[in-house]
Amino acid sequence: MARVSAALRVYAVGAALLLLQLLRRCRGGFSPPVFCRQPDRVAVVTGGTDGIGYSTAKQLARLGVHVIIAGNNEERAQQAVSRIKEETLNTKVEFLYCNLASMKSIRQFVKNFKMKRLPLHVLVNNAGVMMVPQRKTEDGFEEHFGLNYLGHFLLTSLLLDSLKESGSPGRSSRVVTVSSATHYVGELNLEDLQSSSCYSPHGAYARSKLALVMFSYHLQRLLEAQGCHVTANVVDPGVVNTDLYKHVFWGTRLVQRILGWLLFKTPDEGAWTSVYAAVSPELEGLGGRYLYNEKETKSLEVTYDQKLQQQLWARSCQMTGVTDVTRGTILD
Ligand SMILES: NC(=O)c1ccc[n+]([C@@H]2O[C@H](COP(=O)([O-])OP(=O)(O)OC[C@H]3O[C@@H](n4cnc5c(N)ncnc54)[C@H](OP(=O)(O)O)[C@@H]3O)[C@@H](O)[C@H]2O)c1
Repeated sequence: MARVSAALRVYAVGAALLLLQLLRRCRGGFSPPVFCRQPDRVAVVTGGTDGIGYSTAKQLARLGVHVIIAGNNEERAQQAVSRIKEETLNTKVEFLYCNLASMKSIRQFVKNFKMKRLPLHVLVNNAGVMMVPQRKTEDGFEEHFGLNYLGHFLLTSLLLDSLKESGSPGRSSRVVTVSSATHYVGELNLEDLQSSSCYSPHGAYARSKLALVMFSYHLQRLLEAQGCHVTANVVDPGVVNTDLYKHVFWGTRLVQRILGWLLFKTPDEGAWTSVYAAVSPELEGLGGRYLYNEKETKSLEVTYDQKLQQQLWARSCQMTGVTDVTRGTILD
């Protein structure tokens, strides 16, 4: 019963968004935001080999940003790098291996990145899986929670010093985390973060996206308390025509295949809010926002619960072996 209810709630949110997107198309559609070139910036984009991540990496590269694609498929990533270089004429696009379903791989990625002695101005936490069958990451975590959420929690924690060193007054570094409207129907039970009592792929995906929103808000409060020139925002790309849907109910895939061009956003359109959060001067120094269609909007009420944010943060530190720097501070 819980499984059916989680699925229905996720599909209801999806259907409502598709309707809004259709209305928007009828009224003229989405228009691309325009930004100045930023050739002195360096960005890491997770999952930049495909879908929204690929479009995000490409659009950043077009602005002259030095882009590092963090991905887990060497062959696909090298093809993505070549295509982006060709299309944007930016030669500063590269790939570094990072399997977000493995803490060892994430730690190795960070080591490899730091060996390059590059600054880091933008981290886009984009990679993700959706509604996969019940399976575990290399470290034994439920895959949605382990990869989508904990993988990015660990990656951001390990890259925070580079982001802090690279930010300056009036030119903050930025953490952009990709969540989803499904977070509105997510539930966060700290006693069952890994859905071990009753696995629902819909519920597990929504939970991982809810956790990412809370992580982003708590991170922003931490950065503010530390007085760093780093901001953290969370983005919702809308419903986008990508391979993310490969595990969903066949009826939804059929709709995607037949009506995707009309109802879904293209990957480029889906990437605009991430790019906006990564480079827009309007957002300079501003964090703790939930962004949809390049505008701030409200996330689910519970995401603003600071006590729950802190509890989730503390639990995530335990799970990933990261030192909890918020312990004993005003954020505790
Ligand atoms: N599409 C939508 O409608 C939609 C809506 C809301 C939110 N989102 C979010 O947007 C983000 C991007 O999704 P998308 O739609 O672009 O999906 P996608 O086309 O399937 O892209 C997902 C990316 O994540 C990468 N990835 C998966 N597992 C990984 C791992 N273990 N380590 C490193 N990278 C991994 C994939 O690489 P491989 O394929 O090589 O594994 C791929 O590059 C996700 O966080 C998703 O939840 C999407």
